[in-house]
Amino acid sequence: MTSFAIVIDKTETTLVRVGYDYLARMGLLIQKELPHRAYVLITDHNVLELYKKEIQTLLTDLSPKGELIALPPGEEQKQIFPVTVIINRLVELGVDRETLIIALGGGVVGDIAGFVAAIYMRGLSLLHIPTTLTAQTDSSLGGKNALDLPGGKNMVGTIRQPQAVFIDLKFLSSLPAAEWQNGLAEVAKYGLLEGGEYFSLLESQSENLRERRLEKLEAVIAGACRIKKNYVEIDEQDRHTRRFLNLGHTLGHALEAASGYAVSHGQAVALGLRGELALSRRLLHLPEAQEEKAQAFLDSLGLPRKASFPLDRKAIVACLKMDKKRESGQVRFILLKNIGQPFLAAGIPEAAILSVIEEIQ
Ligand SMILES: NC(=O)c1ccc[n+]([C@@H]2O[C@H](COP(=O)([O-])OP(=O)(O)OC[C@H]3O[C@@H](n4cnc5c(N)ncnc54)[C@H](O)[C@@H]3O)[C@@H](O)[C@H]2O)c1
Ligand SMILES: [Zn+2]
Repeated sequence: MTSFAIVIDKTETTLVRVGYDYLARMGLLIQKELPHRAYVLITDHNVLELYKKEIQTLLTDLSPKGELIALPPGEEQKQIFPVTVIINRLVELGVDRETLIIALGGGVVGDIAGFVAAIYMRGLSLLHIPTTLTAQTDSSLGGKNALDLPGGKNMVGTIRQPQAVFIDLKFLSSLPAAEWQNGLAEVAKYGLLEGGEYFSLLESQSENLRERRLEKLEAVIAGACRIKKNYVEIDEQDRHTRRFLNLGHTLGHALEAASGYAVSHGQAVALGLRGELALSRRLLHLPEAQEEKAQAFLDSLGLPRKASFPLDRKAIVACLKMDKKRESGQVRFILLKNIGQPFLAAGIPEAAILSVIEEIQ
């Protein structure tokens, strides 16, 4: 088991634990390390179906026994109306500020439970037990939560740190292949951002990652969490360096949006990383040999080189211009000077963007 803390302004502390196969002890661990007057666990029907026995044991190991709220799975739940239903359920259950909310699921459950915990009675304690690769390496850490509006994804939300994040890699054994691929794109992003030892670790573990040998991957997941910790501790509010975590995401979000969200986030980010590497090389920031090394690394993880769907270049550029990270009329990209050396670049010529879209088509 790996443990460390995320500390923000010396006041807010998140305890992070990463291990393999400790779900059976999770209830007792919560009781010991995060004792509360009451507990409410929020999950979705898929996760509940797969882990019914374990979740029941977790709830009965708590004192008093925890309450359960199970949501239909899917991004459609991340909206204001379904969330007000959950809030009303909390009122019915008599939830007060001494209650711990436990989010057990992927990023959707985490965002919903995180949002509810942030606003109900102006804030309840929150524990994340993330169950997807994306949630274990990204969404459960850093305190961001958000709901979607008809006008766009993640448009309303807060930044509020959870008390703890308990990561059990064993959950990932039941993940559908496509969801595993989605998370791999985020892990690859950390490798390219961090470089050095973490990049080498990922290179050496590429086969274990492709084959999903979970018992071998604790250092990979814990390493990703530590990289995110470093960014969040320095810039919790996402105004400066935390934006580097958007590597692959500027182009990735545009690909996702231009496809009307028919493309998964992970596929879009994988292609976004490919395109942003090519852009870094084209604009002469990234040496060609480094780009080749980075592209080969993405290959070794089994991430796609080319889109398996048609790319509408005009629509993608239009989406880039609408990106909420656009400032003073310019699209900003996170580019690399080297593997491990990200920087924020503005004023990218449209011709360069169009030609890298060509490269991933
Ligand atoms: N708050 C943040 O910082 C942040 C960061 C990244 C992504 N997100 C959000 O996270 C969401 C995506 O998260 P996600 O990729 O985890 O998707 P998800 O939560 O929709 O989960 C994907 C699917 O896998 C199922 N599932 C979950 N755990 C499983 C398991 N162990 N075994 C089998 N099936 C399982 C779910 O029921 C769902 O059908 C998006 O809404 C995104 O906006 C938030
Ligand atoms: Zn992402």
